[in-house]
Amino acid sequence: MAKIIMMGMSLRKDSFNKKLIHNAHRILSDSKSGHEFELLSFNDYPMPVYNADIEAQSGIPDDVQKLGRKITEADALILSTPEYNGGMPGVFKNAVDWVSRISPMLWPGKQLLLLGASPGGLGAIRSLGHSRVPLESIGVFVFPEMFGLSQAHQAFDEHGKLKDPATEERVKKLLNKFCNHLR
Ligand SMILES: Cc1cc2nc3c(=O)[nH]c(=O)nc-3n(C[C@H](O)[C@H](O)[C@H](O)COP(=O)(O)O)c2cc1C
Repeated sequence: MAKIIMMGMSLRKDSFNKKLIHNAHRILSDSKSGHEFELLSFNDYPMPVYNADIEAQSGIPDDVQKLGRKITEADALILSTPEYNGGMPGVFKNAVDWVSRISPMLWPGKQLLLLGASPGGLGAIRSLGHSRVPLESIGVFVFPEMFGLSQAHQAFDEHGKLKDPATEERVKKLLNKFCNHLR
């Protein structure tokens, strides 16, 4: 059994990526995968913009350490990221950078599935490709398949649930594939 942490990499209250990761968590919680899933909120880990002077003067901030402990305890992560200007959002990269400063390095060997959501037609797919680069460079095994939800502003009902059964099925299929891979 693997322990999997799940998080939307946006701080926005009504974030489409938060909604997508909530749907993924619901789907997995209803599944009989045998794995353990924990949904985290990125807002619970507020951290400054990385500055080596902050690190030198006061060490790694408490909220970075707190997130680091969650990652240490997990075998795998499922993250849903927005796309900003064709790449991963700064807050996501900043968190990866801060956590990479914890010694010993805790990223190597972690398994990661990337999801994304955007109101645009490409469904954050460029951000998914971009997010792989720093994560793979610090030893994370990023699952080859990813899922990008396009037209995300129209994808959820008033309860935040995915409206389209075919989309839900695609997400479910990929989540199951990733869970089987973790066995
Ligand atoms: C600075 C900035 C740049 C953006 N660039 C892109 C982009 O390149 N591609 C895209 O599909 N959406 C882009 N968007 C729109 C985001 O996809 C949209 O704000 C989305 O709601 C963010 O994800 P969230 O809902 O999870 O917060 C951009 C938004 C901002 C604020």
